[in-house]
This record gives sequence, structure tokens and C-alpha cells, in this order.
Amino acid sequence: MRAVEIKPDIYWVGAIDWAVRDFHGYVTPRGTTYNNYLILDEQITLVDTVKYGFAQVTIDNIKRLVDPAKIVNVVVNHIEPDHVSSLDKVMELSPDATIYITNRGKKGLDKLFDTSKWKFRIVKTGDTLNTGKYNLTFLETPMLHWPDSMMTYVKKAKLLISQDAFGQHLATASRFDDEFIECASLAELEDSVIDYYANILMPFGSLIKAKITELQKLGIEIDMIAPDHGIIWRKEPGSILQKYLDMANGKASLTITVIYDTMWHSTELMTLPITRGIKDEGLDCKVIKLRATPMSVAIKEFWKSRGCLIGSPTLNNLLYPSVAEFLIHLRGLRPKNRIIGAFGSYGWGGGAVKEANEEFRKMKLEAFEPGLQVLSKPSLEDETKCYEFGRDFAKSVKEYHSKFD
Ligand code: FEO
Repeated sequence: MRAVEIKPDIYWVGAIDWAVRDFHGYVTPRGTTYNNYLILDEQITLVDTVKYGFAQVTIDNIKRLVDPAKIVNVVVNHIEPDHVSSLDKVMELSPDATIYITNRGKKGLDKLFDTSKWKFRIVKTGDTLNTGKYNLTFLETPMLHWPDSMMTYVKKAKLLISQDAFGQHLATASRFDDEFIECASLAELEDSVIDYYANILMPFGSLIKAKITELQKLGIEIDMIAPDHGIIWRKEPGSILQKYLDMANGKASLTITVIYDTMWHSTELMTLPITRGIKDEGLDCKVIKLRATPMSVAIKEFWKSRGCLIGSPTLNNLLYPSVAEFLIHLRGLRPKNRIIGAFGSYGWGGGAVKEANEEFRKMKLEAFEPGLQVLSKPSLEDETKCYEFGRDFAKSVKEYHSKFD
């Protein structure tokens, strides 16, 4: 795909990765894009690069507009390899360019490349770069989502180049939100936003709220948000800011996700009466078997619902390994404002439900204890217990959810 003008003399010059399905362990069934932007001003300025393997794509996009040797400034908003691993190829063609980067970004870059021949200007929040008619202001966003991260605001264009924030792993020929919604669907776009937030930004809700508040206090006008992945928000940039605030405040739907694994189907059999009980309390419920579902999909579905039940058989007095892996992964994402409970079958000693409850306490989630254990295959009497367990959990989810109204 060739360069696309997104604002007067500001071009998307990125790459579309239709084929990527595993992004450092996070599944990307819709592929992704690596977005970067070229400002054709008196001082030609490139903001961000793309992932290795796509260097020639962005270089060709740039060459169709200008000789890369004429690039005066290269802004590096974020040094994760999907954005910076072709920087050396760009700098070969633009050796006189000055790189604008945060202090932490520079230290990280020094570990990735021989930077000894490159010129740098270290920037912090509020620092500016005048390129001619445009004035760029840098805004550090540490831990959103790496320590080096920053955003670049182009004042006259009312354009916020936001690196990973507000992005989506979504490969599409559409460059803008309105185009994508017209050609595909709003629901698919929203699902991509939630997927990205849940798997990458969930731990940073407080920082996101603080940063959006800072943006609002600065009084900067934004009529376009251009992230480094997926579509660019031009129709309603305010809607993605509000969606991020909602997610940072822990907004969830009044639904339940059941996430389980099973050895000889006993834990799986428990899900049937449990989900009947949930349904009879009037709540929708999605069921996910871990070994049949990529981890990042399970994380996304967990994040969508106010309530979650974890089902695990007991293996060697502990959680089943796939369930333990999921809970460890979830703990790292520091989820908030969710209620969670556990169930599972056991052969002799039990232990999985107890372990799960300990994990819930470590995560400081609202725990629905003590959970439910069943010996071996559920009997008719056990099925009744499971049904009541599902109903009771659904009642607790409704009560807990009412705190967020
Ligand atoms: Fe898209 Fe944090 O890299």
C-alpha cells in the first residue's frame, strides 16, 4: 500500500502485515499494521519506523514522496522492535538526520544498534521541534507501555501520534476509522481495541487515566489520533479517548466468562449445570476451554465480563498446568474490578480450587469463595450443586456490578 496523506503534507508511510498470527505470544488473527508518518515540511521529519522485514516497504513509500537523504529529523516514540527494528536501514539512507527520543529510549536504542555515528536530541515532555509550518510537541508516556514511550503532538494539524496507545492489531486496506466501519464493522473495530487493551495495556489503567487528564489539562485540541498499529481515528477521536477512560475505570459488561480446562471431562461436565444456573439468573455466559483457545483470546474474554469462573481439575494437588499458566499470565496484567470464583473436579486429595483462590487473593480481585469441588464425574446430586453454584455466582456478579453503575 502506498503512502496516504492524513493531514496536509503529513503522510502515513507504514506497512501492512496481513500474515502475522503470533505477536510475541499474543495471537493476531486479524494481522496488524506498523504505522509511521512522514511530515513533508521545511525540515522533513519521519515519526517512527516499522518492524524488520518491512523496512523496504516504508522506504519505498518514503521514496515515492521524497529522497530519504533529505530527512532532517527522525522521531522515535517507542523502541519496541516492531517500531524500531528497521531504524538502521532508514538511517543508512538518512545519515545526517537527528533522532528525537527520550532519555530511556536512547539507552534502550544503544543496546539494539551501534548508535555511535547517529545524532541525537534527548527530549522530555513539553520539548518542541519546529519543522517549518508545523510545531511538534513531545509528551512522555512512561510505562505506556514501555519506560521509553512518548507521543508526538502536531499542533497546527491537531494530530496526536500516539505510538501503541489507541492502536489495534488489525490489518486492513482502510487507514481510517470511518473507512473501516463502512467497509467492515464497528463491532470488529471495538473488539480489536478491547483485545489490544486487555493484552497490552490492562496493567496501566491508572497511568492511562492520568495521561488523558494531563492531555485535557494541557488544553490541546485533537481532531485526529494516529497510533502505530491499525486504523487512524479521524471521525471520532474523542470516542477512543472515552473508551480508554472507560476501560481504565474497569468498565465491563454484566456477563460471565467461564474459563476452564479438563482431564477426563469431569470439570467440563460441571460447566453445563453451572452455565444453566447462570442463564436462569438472566446473565449471558461465554465458555472457553483453555487448551482449545489462545491465551490472548481468553484474556480478552475475561476482560469483557464483570464475572469470571475458573474451572480446573486437580493434578498432583495443584491447579491443572494450563489453568495455572492462565492465572499467572492474568496476575501479571493486574486486573481490577472483576469478581472471580473457582470450581473443579478431583480424584482423591483435591487442591485446585484452593490454589485458584490463593491466586485470586494475590490479584486482589473480588473472590467468590470457597468455590466448588466435585469428586470425579459429577453425580446428579453434584449437578444440582453446580447449578446452584452458577446461580449464586450470577447473583453475586449482579450485586458487584451494581457498584459500577
Ligand atoms: Fe507496538 Fe510496544 O510495540
